[in-house]
Amino acid sequence: MTVPSAMRALVFDPPGLRMTKVAVPEPDPSEALVAIRYSSLNWVEVARTELVHQPGDVIGRDSAGTVVRAAADGSGPAVGDRVVGFRAPGAWAEYQAIGTEDLAVVPDSVELAAAAALPGAAVSALQAVRRLSAHLAESLTGLRVLVTGASGGVGRAATQLAALAGAEVIAAVGTPERGAGLSTLGAAEVVTDLARVGPVDGVLDIVGGQTLTTAYGLLKRGGLALSIGSAGGATTSFDFEAARLRGGRRAVEAFAVSSPFGPDLEHLLGLLVAGRFDPQIGWLGSWRQVDEARTALLDRKVLGKAVLEID
Ligand SMILES: NC(=O)c1ccc[n+]([C@@H]2O[C@H](COP(=O)([O-])OP(=O)(O)OC[C@H]3O[C@@H](n4cnc5c(N)ncnc54)[C@H](OP(=O)(O)O)[C@@H]3O)[C@@H](O)[C@H]2O)c1
Repeated sequence: MTVPSAMRALVFDPPGLRMTKVAVPEPDPSEALVAIRYSSLNWVEVARTELVHQPGDVIGRDSAGTVVRAAADGSGPAVGDRVVGFRAPGAWAEYQAIGTEDLAVVPDSVELAAAAALPGAAVSALQAVRRLSAHLAESLTGLRVLVTGASGGVGRAATQLAALAGAEVIAAVGTPERGAGLSTLGAAEVVTDLARVGPVDGVLDIVGGQTLTTAYGLLKRGGLALSIGSAGGATTSFDFEAARLRGGRRAVEAFAVSSPFGPDLEHLLGLLVAGRFDPQIGWLGSWRQVDEARTALLDRKVLGKAVLEID
């Protein structure tokens, strides 16, 4: 397959982004070169661009497209396979080189736009739900799990995956409108005020700050609060002395998603095919409208994921 030497890409040009021509990446032996059809936005690359990208970087991590050059080491998908992958930076471009361990082949029945919504948000949610299960009882069946920031990309995935794991999910959102659809996704309760929430076994926190402090206070004995994100932007503080005096070994832990992404993407694609998981695309448009997508995400207008078509 003929691959050009230059491509269009969205690069970080502080404080914004610029569409420009850059060289098509040269894959390492363990990487496949993918012609990208769709990419999606993750909060960190939009709200904290300067922390995760250098000026001149091609922005983005999540992408789905077609393999145009297979990995030289013989691993992974073949030329022509439809794939989804995760690799930072470089997803908001016409081509991306992605390690084969972080790629999964997309079944024919799954749209590439839906696949592109999965990597950063749903894989993180999946790994966090697994971590919570491992800490609590190996199974979440019948346990109460609070998901904060449940309206967003990670939150909508976490709500679905915790409910699929058998948990009674309490989905916390900023306003009733932001909670639209969460009951259908499996939430037993949708709340806008943590003061109305009873004791919980586990917390998947996406907001941080006072939200995490309050959520930690809701834990039953032996419970775990996972700090997944801090979309609220505030520092979190705990009175651990008070927690010790209260007893009950309630834990809080910083969660970080980790590679390889391929097997988890494959698992999620299987759920999509089975109709058990919805990618929750709340915004879909051309990558030429990326500023509109970024603003919508930052203004908390997107219910779930924003996906860019690389057209
Ligand atoms: N630990 C990891 O490995 C990992 C992996 C992926 C993502 N993350 C983190 O998870 C967090 C959420 O990511 P996401 O992709 O789900 O983002 P998102 O789609 O923008 O959702 C974030 C949610 O947080 C809530 N929120 C509360 N206060 C907010 C504020 N001041 N500004 C923006 N949102 C606020 C919003 O809910 P309401 O509008 O309903 O209040 C929003 O829906 C980020 O901090 C991200 O870095 C961490």
